Amino acid sequence: MADQDQLIQEIQNKFNALGEDPKAYLEGLLHSKPVNYWDYIQTDSLLSLQKPRTDFKDEIVFIIYHQVTELVLKLMNHEAQQIVADDTPDVDVFKDKINRLSRYTDMLITSFDVMRDGMSYEDYNKFRMSLTPASGFQSVQFRYLELYSTPIYNLLRTEKDVREIEEMPLEEIFEHIYWKSAGRDKKTKEKTLTLRLFEEKYQDELIGMAQELKGRTIQERYQKLGAKDKDLKTAMRKFDHLYNVAWPLVHLRTAEHYLESEGKPKAATGGSAWKRYLHPNYQKRVFFPDVWDDVDILDYEPAKAHESH
Ligand code: HEM
Repeated sequence: MADQDQLIQEIQNKFNALGEDPKAYLEGLLHSKPVNYWDYIQTDSLLSLQKPRTDFKDEIVFIIYHQVTELVLKLMNHEAQQIVADDTPDVDVFKDKINRLSRYTDMLITSFDVMRDGMSYEDYNKFRMSLTPASGFQSVQFRYLELYSTPIYNLLRTEKDVREIEEMPLEEIFEHIYWKSAGRDKKTKEKTLTLRLFEEKYQDELIGMAQELKGRTIQERYQKLGAKDKDLKTAMRKFDHLYNVAWPLVHLRTAEHYLESEGKPKAATGGSAWKRYLHPNYQKRVFFPDVWDDVDILDYEPAKAHESH
């Protein structure tokens, strides 16, 4: 560590270089109050963000767990954004970031019991009725992460071939994204209110993002690395599996617990054909197709990965 005189000299150099008087800043330091935990972490603001719509006690559990998830997703998008921003990635840094994404996804998976077992079944089925047409389906951070992770054509549900898609404007391509299928009425095929409101708020932003990310998604960065690094491949598989199979499964099991454990499936607040739609076997969502050359993402067992790779 620099000694005190050297430190003061460096501070003076810094402000001189900015054309500022170092003395004014040193005096400011003398008078400034100590930093407090609650100011830095914004505790009061965080704790004021829960606004239940009913008097059921467990509604707070539901709200806060969603907020925790959104914060974790923010951490994930923060890593994903750094990966796509780096034109000349280093294999070890890349691997470290993918491992971070897996670690965060693991947090979401292992904590999902808070939803599955941590709310009263009866209360949940009452307070959820006051939330229609809102749905986790409208979480834009899930969609950001998808766009960061993989080229748009890996997110489509269409019979059209790649060349046909490449010629279409993004606005049209977006109509074929897999999640739009959850936002159409089963009979009339009209878009549900849940989807229409989401599109109104976020569609332009998402299209802009997809445009900017062309050729730079995590999948494309990985391809460019041309990595023969087995650990990186294992890391990619692990994240892809955790995010696109393991999380959807714990989420689906929770939906089944609340929405169909007492007889016939109930309609979800977002109005989708959720039992089919949410199942990874139906979604077949894969961010990194290249790493699944010898095993299907659905059959992958991350715990055994280190034995075979
Ligand atoms: C009791 C807890 C939960 C139940 C019963 C539940 C149920 C559902 C259902 C039925 C859907 C399908 C869309 C619809 O028709 O509404 C859905 C979608 C979704 N939910 Fe949940 N959910 C729960 C908790 C959560 C939590 C904590 C999150 C975290 C933010 C979340 C995120 C999502 C996402 C991202 C989708 C869209 C998935 C996709 O497009 O593949 N859900 N949820």
